[in-house]
Amino acid sequence: MTTTIAPPAIRIRGIEKSYDGRSVLRGVDLDVEAGSVVALLGANGAGKTTLVRILSTLTRPDAGTAVVGGHDLATEPLEVRRSISLTGQFAAVDEVLTGRENLMLIARLRHVHGPGAVADGLLERFRLTDAGGRAVATYSGGMRRRLDIAMSLIGDPSVIFLDEPTTGLDPEARIDVWDTVRELAGRGTAILLTTQYLEEAEQHADRTAVLHDGRIIANGTLAELKRLLPPTKVEYVEKQPTLEEIFLALTRHRTENEGRS
Ligand SMILES: Nc1ncnc2c1ncn2[C@@H]1O[C@H](COP(=O)(O)OP(=O)(O)OP(=O)(O)O)[C@@H](O)[C@H]1O
Ligand SMILES: [Mg+2]
Repeated sequence: MTTTIAPPAIRIRGIEKSYDGRSVLRGVDLDVEAGSVVALLGANGAGKTTLVRILSTLTRPDAGTAVVGGHDLATEPLEVRRSISLTGQFAAVDEVLTGRENLMLIARLRHVHGPGAVADGLLERFRLTDAGGRAVATYSGGMRRRLDIAMSLIGDPSVIFLDEPTTGLDPEARIDVWDTVRELAGRGTAILLTTQYLEEAEQHADRTAVLHDGRIIANGTLAELKRLLPPTKVEYVEKQPTLEEIFLALTRHRTENEGRS
């Protein structure tokens, strides 16, 4: 029996980038397999957004190569752009348009069949149906973020970059985003996302990569990363619920009761 090993959806080798003589990326190597979620961790200013911008053709690297969605970043930037979608760190939605109009606009730009139905499906999936006809200027921060992520899913890109997709979202909305991310990975999409929430990476990503001092200094599954530290001692600790667990329990309880009255 022969097994063919598919090449990774994203293959990054030796990417370097300096700004004004200051080195930000000093040789980044990283692979993301199709159907997997890789979380990129790093302190503020580590270069996460810079790397995501390079991989989505918005910024040129000084050195190194990358293959994204089967296309070479340097020689086939148009094909790379067609196979990816990017949700930037700051929401890129049009304030004047309604949520539904924003989605329809992207669907038309991407030549998607039936833009109205696609927009309505995404509004429902991201719990924005009621707000869909309102100008985005009236949305809360979390609603904008959800709309922004919904926009990035139009056209079923094979590679998705999400730069801090859950920053500023309430716990319920963060769970929605992660459910969507996992569902997309389940359909074969490769997802590279950055996050400051370490516990989210721990729970939901297949692999975690740590960007520090311009390089990936650790990259692996949670089990692999745990092996980098000395073995743990067994201690008796009484587990208290986290504030997030309490928040979710309280808000869900209230919502359920409201639904009944
Ligand atoms: N266009 C630019 N011109 C000059 N310096 C830049 C530019 N873009 C980024 N930098 C610098 O590169 C470094 C990395 O920035 P980047 O935004 O990639 O970090 P980050 O890891 O995404 O941080 P954060 O967690 O705060 O989002 C920072 O020192 C930043 O000031
Ligand atoms: Mg950033």
